[in-house]
Amino acid sequence: MSAGKDVVCRMENFRVYYMTFDGPVKAVDGVSMEVYKEETVGLVGESGCGKSTLGSALLKILPRTARMEGRVYLEGEDLIPKSEKEMQKLRGAKISMIFQDPMTSLNPIMKVKDHFIETIKTHKPEVSEDQALEMASKALAEVGISESRLNDYPFQFSGGMRQRMMIALSIVLRPTLVIADEPTTSLDVIVQAQILQLMKEIQSHIRSSMILITHDLGVVAEMAHRIGVMYAGHLVELAPRDTIYYKPLHPYTQALLESVPNTDINDMELSYIDGYPPSLLNIGEGCRFVDRCPKTMKVCRDRTPPDVEIKEDHMVKCWLYADNVGEVERS
Ligand SMILES: Nc1ncnc2c1ncn2[C@@H]1O[C@H](COP(=O)(O)OP(=O)(O)OP(=O)(O)O)[C@@H](O)[C@H]1O
Ligand code: SF4
Ligand SMILES: [Mg+2]
Repeated sequence: MSAGKDVVCRMENFRVYYMTFDGPVKAVDGVSMEVYKEETVGLVGESGCGKSTLGSALLKILPRTARMEGRVYLEGEDLIPKSEKEMQKLRGAKISMIFQDPMTSLNPIMKVKDHFIETIKTHKPEVSEDQALEMASKALAEVGISESRLNDYPFQFSGGMRQRMMIALSIVLRPTLVIADEPTTSLDVIVQAQILQLMKEIQSHIRSSMILITHDLGVVAEMAHRIGVMYAGHLVELAPRDTIYYKPLHPYTQALLESVPNTDINDMELSYIDGYPPSLLNIGEGCRFVDRCPKTMKVCRDRTPPDVEIKEDHMVKCWLYADNVGEVERS
């Protein structure tokens, strides 16, 4: 743990495998990281690298075929052994999620007010309906929606407003940790900027922590205090925002940033580098970037690199920085 920082969530050797007839798909494989109080950690990486799996796994809203191992502490409580019933008490109250498409988690035949009442009363049965409506009006006001819309249905909202409503619903109980999975990807640029600004304001107002999942380097540059780079189920680098942009150490992070033509960090789309990430089905030992890395060594193919702590708050998963590998093994 970093000195002087309160840890809200800690993952230790966190693994999520989807069990298939052909073997396990190792979507998240040995991720260790912490999220501090009131900070935003951005998670970036190519499509299929395990970002959404990690986010959904924290709420334990994965398909039945998923298996989770390791440790995930939320305010000191390990989530892995928790039953569905115990998780229902935490979801919405302590940890909540904002999805790319709010309609996937909203019931189209339920009025806006009923979504709020259901969420609030699930966690606080002692709250009366009137009190719940008051809380809902307040949360909607925080995202700039009039309480008169409480009687509408979600489909009566525009995309941007629906996302605002989703944000209001996700923060109405003041959770400690909010997971936002591509929250602005389906919105146009102007609405996207408004929603990001809103998320920033709300987060500082309710003092929650956030894991922001995105493929857009411009979004994390704007929003995140620290950035985690995922590659093929591994967290390959985790560091403060400016370190990732200006002094990245992992060859994958470096390649990602070098492949972006525009060097303005506020205007970066994640670009793609030559080749493809490996299949995660039955994947074994070794560095997963080995076939695309310009600095590959012998050891990289045989053994999974350790998480090397370069300095406080800067982790790199790469043999280049591990001092326990002899020169013979490197060559
Ligand atoms: N239900 C499932 N069964 C088997 N494999 C799955 C399942 N869901 C996801 N996967 C696989 O797990 C890996 C991680 O997927 P995930 O959706 O977490 O990636 P992602 O980083 O969020 O990608 P994107 O940027 O496209 O949203 C991928 O290889 C994907 O094919
Ligand atoms: S461990 Fe080896 S192959 Fe992997 S990124 Fe580092 S140098 Fe490249
Ligand atoms: Mg995803």
